[in-house]
Amino acid sequence: MNFHNEPCDPSTPKRRRLGITKTKPQNVFKAANSSFINTTPIQMRLSSNLANRCDSPPLPCNQIEYLSESTSSSSVTNDIPCSPGVFETCFFKDIANWDSFKVSKNKENILKDYADEFNDEFQTRPEQNITTDCSISTSKCEKLFRDEIEQSFNNLNQSIINININKDKSSLFETNDSFLLDIRESGIITNQENSKNDEINKFTNNQVILNMNQNNFYGLPMIVKGLFKTYRKIEKFYDWQEECLNLDTIKERRNLIYALPTSGGKTLVAEVLMLREILNRKKNALFILPFVAIVQEKIWSLAPFALQLDFLVEEYAGGKGHIPPKKRRKKNSIYIATIEKGLALIRSLIELDRLDELGLIVVDELHLIGEPGRGSTLEMLLTTVIFANKGIQIVGMSATIGNLPDLATFLKADVYEKQFRPVELVEYVKLGNVLHRIVWGPGGMEIVPDRELSFDYSRAGAALDPDALGGLVAETAPRAACLVFCPTKRNCENVAALLCKLRRREMTNHRVEERVALQTALRNEGAGLDLVKFVRFGVAFHHAGLAGEERSLLEHAFRAGVISVLCCTSTLAAGVNLPARRVIIRAPLVGREFITLGAYRQMAGRAGRAGACEAGESVVVCAAASWARLRAVLAGGLGAARSALGAGGAAGALLLSGAALRLAGARRGLRALLRAALLPVAPPEPASRSRRRSCKEKCGPRAAIVPRSISYETLPGSNRVVCRLRSLDVDRVCDDAVRALLESGALEVVGGGGWDSIDDDTELAVSKLGRAAIKGCMELSVAKRLLEDLEIASRSLVLMGSLHLLYLVTPHDSGIKPDYRHYYSLYCELDEEGVQTAKILGITEMNAIRMMTGKPITNVPESVLCRFYIALMLRDLWRQMPFPAVAEKYGVSRGALQAQLAAAAAFAGGATRLCEELPARWGFRALLEPLALRLQHCAAPGLERLLALPAVRKARALQLLRAGYKCVEDVARASAGELTAAIGHLSRTAADHLVSSARMMLIEKVENLRAEAEDVMEGLKI
Ligand SMILES: Nc1ncnc2c1ncn2[C@@H]1O[C@H](COP(=O)(O)OP(=O)(O)OP(=O)(O)O)[C@@H](O)[C@H]1O
Ligand SMILES: [Mg+2]
Repeated sequence: MNFHNEPCDPSTPKRRRLGITKTKPQNVFKAANSSFINTTPIQMRLSSNLANRCDSPPLPCNQIEYLSESTSSSSVTNDIPCSPGVFETCFFKDIANWDSFKVSKNKENILKDYADEFNDEFQTRPEQNITTDCSISTSKCEKLFRDEIEQSFNNLNQSIINININKDKSSLFETNDSFLLDIRESGIITNQENSKNDEINKFTNNQVILNMNQNNFYGLPMIVKGLFKTYRKIEKFYDWQEECLNLDTIKERRNLIYALPTSGGKTLVAEVLMLREILNRKKNALFILPFVAIVQEKIWSLAPFALQLDFLVEEYAGGKGHIPPKKRRKKNSIYIATIEKGLALIRSLIELDRLDELGLIVVDELHLIGEPGRGSTLEMLLTTVIFANKGIQIVGMSATIGNLPDLATFLKADVYEKQFRPVELVEYVKLGNVLHRIVWGPGGMEIVPDRELSFDYSRAGAALDPDALGGLVAETAPRAACLVFCPTKRNCENVAALLCKLRRREMTNHRVEERVALQTALRNEGAGLDLVKFVRFGVAFHHAGLAGEERSLLEHAFRAGVISVLCCTSTLAAGVNLPARRVIIRAPLVGREFITLGAYRQMAGRAGRAGACEAGESVVVCAAASWARLRAVLAGGLGAARSALGAGGAAGALLLSGAALRLAGARRGLRALLRAALLPVAPPEPASRSRRRSCKEKCGPRAAIVPRSISYETLPGSNRVVCRLRSLDVDRVCDDAVRALLESGALEVVGGGGWDSIDDDTELAVSKLGRAAIKGCMELSVAKRLLEDLEIASRSLVLMGSLHLLYLVTPHDSGIKPDYRHYYSLYCELDEEGVQTAKILGITEMNAIRMMTGKPITNVPESVLCRFYIALMLRDLWRQMPFPAVAEKYGVSRGALQAQLAAAAAFAGGATRLCEELPARWGFRALLEPLALRLQHCAAPGLERLLALPAVRKARALQLLRAGYKCVEDVARASAGELTAAIGHLSRTAADHLVSSARMMLIEKVENLRAEAEDVMEGLKI
């Protein structure tokens, strides 16, 4: 099978082959009237402050950056001489010459000691020779060998840290800054100066100094103070941060939940705790964050700390992250993980009895535990850790939890709560033409009329924009940033179009050159015509329908002030850090649901971030008819984060993994495990009778595996179906789940029998199927379906290309509906591989004709038709057809297409691990492993090596490649100054982070080799 060079069928016409159809350019800006709004409101009390640009803190600049800040930068690692020969260091040579190494290093000793050691009566002479030689050489070589390897690795690490360091002139240690003088006084400089030519000494000295200075800066070496100042611009901790770090809870390493409003500075406390854990306690830390993008942002921002303080930051998100994590004997790691990857990591550590390598788990946005889907995964993770009881400290933080005591009970944690926000947030609700200020008091919430809005709209303008969004935006943009949260993707685009129609000269004339550059970059990514046009006016939309590269470009442009208005969905509220001067919530809706207080606070909280803005304000636009409901929501308090374990067999998944990890082996233990969850403390709300729906209605044929203690109901006013617990009897939920697991074959009774034959102590074991599901991190039902697919495919796998394999790794619940009328033309274009695969799946030309004519298909399940359609998309990407062309060909958004690709790559990875557990499926394992790898990168062929860098996306990778940086090593070898000179629009701070991340990746690579070498030595018992 040729994974790499599958050609397109040359018989297909080029335009169709590329999936390109002619599109009519849409002219959104027909109206010649370019000034609907005069920006002067009758009263503009706030306008005096608006001139302050909402500058953003340094963030991962994975795309083109629009700020030139090369004069204000500094680097921590700049004037230490470069270490030549990083890659010629002796480690690899030594490994290759192991035998000669042993002999040469020990020859004399061996000969000397030989006669004394020879005394075993039960061996022949030659055997004795061999044994004696080995034992002597082993005992004598061991230390030398270990030392040699140790030294090689240390040299290598230190060399990487210092590559080209003296090329840059600026240095942390050349400054007169008072923080850095502290460090100078602490002796670091002197030590470093003295040992300039002795890398090993320098390494050793650093270690000593770190230890000497412990507890000087919140229990950390003084150098950390300088790092926070240099890389975060943080000069002093807030009082609450200081107080929190000095809590007895922290000193005694008890679990803690701390709750502060948005922008309160919660992350800093978590970072200090993690640094203490790895530097002082020499244990690893796990930092759980909600999205891949935020994980990458954090990797990026911690990389300079890791380089300076000699630890590792490892990424566990998307396709990245080693499961189980590499065992490191010399360095500690902060694992930065998404919830799903965090669970896989924890399970793998427990399986190998290595959980005690972890000392601390920090969970950001802890309120997510109440969300359907991810919430149950997070609850499983935390429950498993608590139940395993290995003394791991758990710290959670959030701005929006309504039931802190419940979560504290679940986590056995203390609670620290403060109402602190460094930047004042003034909140308004717009009712009619009047802005009302929201006043929060102990008695609840009130609104106070603040000012009447009166924008000078033309008649046409007023008709176009009855909510005066243009006027509200005009009060802020372009001088300061404005986020407009919209309920839906479509609405984001419409509002952006509206704002452009109401264009003002002031908006149009701002940062013109950079906007043109942004337009070009977006065009290169295949962005739609509308978006490219809007950007010219400093306005853009941002939602899941856009490709990741487009979103990333827009985020950077927004942070840099090149675009000043971003119309986005609520996902940006808890997602990437995009500070704004003003936040407008276009309607009190998220999708079709009414807004919750938590969602409102997260969105409004994007306004006025510390370090970025001096003030912030939010305006929620509310129709008179919705005000009563919005008032009730705002006054009603934050919603409780309730257990999501009841839904979709999640309790069963927890119990199954508990059994597989040997945390519980019988019903008694499993009940105890479930009692340790959030479920008993904060169960889902009980169902109201009138709204109950039967499990069968909801789950169809899978109803059999839904516990009887669960029911479903439809939320009033929407189609959303939620899971409810019928009773609070957790033991019964457990029994239901165990029974379902036994019936499904995932659990087995040791010695035979079924549910009726077991008592509390009957031993239960996890079947092969159950183990495979756990290994693949899949729900049992998904694992079963996959195995059925593999079973069928094993009889007739089409290996003429990749299509059939891609079909197998296409998840079932893609959410994409094929355009059935288009199916026939796609079918007609199929090459031989396609026809064969379709035939194996039962899809015939007759089916395709029926689809085209709108007739129902009865002989092929809809899910098969749908997955084949998606597999065809994936194959086009695999064949390197451009993303926009594929999206257009199949009528899906680029964002949805990317999501399908990511889902298939993740599923292929899971399927590979599942097959690993099932020896009979070794063949599929061999096929799926490279497929999973290639799927991760097929969107950007040729850039794989650069895309390995955290938060580097296609556009940045392309820039690097064009500038001659082909791989991580090239970037690591560069200095920040060289990068900024070679790459347009790259700020010095971003370049610093980029180089640090690259160096950290190399060190991780070296550490991985060290771990392997040590594993081998351990295996040899030397
Ligand atoms: N002591 C400090 N001095 C100055 N700036 C700080 C300090 N602590 C944190 N910040 C800055 O405040 C901003 C917001 O901090 P952070 O992201 O930690 O907020 P948060 O509490 O996590 O908010 P959210 O709930 O919205 O995520 C960041 O830019 C951070 O660098
Ligand atoms: Mg935060």
